[in-house]
Amino acid sequence: MLELDHLAVAYGSITALHDVSLRVDAGAIVTLIGANGAGKSTTLRAISGLLAPRAGSIRFEGQNIAGLPAHRIVEMGISHVPEGRMIFANLTVLENLKMGAYRFKTNPRWSRDLDYVFNVFPRLKERERQAAGTLSGGEQQMLAIGRALTGQPRFLMLDEPSLGIAPILVKTIFEKIVEVNQTLGITVLLVEQNANLALEVSRYGYVLETGRVILHDDSAALRANAQVRHAYLGAG
Ligand SMILES: Nc1ncnc2c1ncn2[C@@H]1O[C@H](COP(=O)(O)OP(=O)(O)OP(=O)(O)O)[C@@H](O)[C@H]1O
Ligand SMILES: [Mg+2]
Repeated sequence: MLELDHLAVAYGSITALHDVSLRVDAGAIVTLIGANGAGKSTTLRAISGLLAPRAGSIRFEGQNIAGLPAHRIVEMGISHVPEGRMIFANLTVLENLKMGAYRFKTNPRWSRDLDYVFNVFPRLKERERQAAGTLSGGEQQMLAIGRALTGQPRFLMLDEPSLGIAPILVKTIFEKIVEVNQTLGITVLLVEQNANLALEVSRYGYVLETGRVILHDDSAALRANAQVRHAYLGAG
């Protein structure tokens, strides 16, 4: 469904991605792990059109989307939940969800899309009139994912959904990610520093180090890999 081929991305004179090739098959959950500054968020920003690649290609369902404007990429069915959630704190839960569906403003399916989101996250329904900034961290993450789902994506990218969330809610968030993948059929590219959980729910994984893919394998094999265990799974 998605294929990056020798992707290179720079911020001005600073090269953040040197050489990233990866693929995500339709229906899969694929995870991208790596230390701080490895280039995980940069990879997602390039896919969603927020950064133009310096070299390489990004193919989505066979079409090269590298350099297309972000709104075109959203329209193709790619949705991005950015690191740090970026919800509108002063707007209500419902208003935040509407922002995610802005391109469907006149869409008669809006109430059905809303039901679809509330089905996955009943807690958002209970709190639809509450200011988003007063939600707990985990609830804000649910809102960020819910907002991405109102755009009816076929491909969902999540940037560190477990960041700053209590362990008990992290488990809930990951269960939701699996549910979105399995029951809604949405393909997922997951960026995580919580490598243990990410490799547990994903089928395949890539390890990024200073802008390069240094290792990739089935998630189960990565979890057993001594190098990965030592560097990312906190094992000795
Ligand atoms: N706007 C920017 N301008 C200049 N350099 C940047 C910018 N954004 C990121 N970088 C640099 O690009 C590199 C990759 O950053 P990126 O945010 O992709 O890392 P990451 O793997 O997501 O890290 P983290 O786990 O901390 O979120 C880092 O060296 C970072 O300092
Ligand atoms: Mg990041």
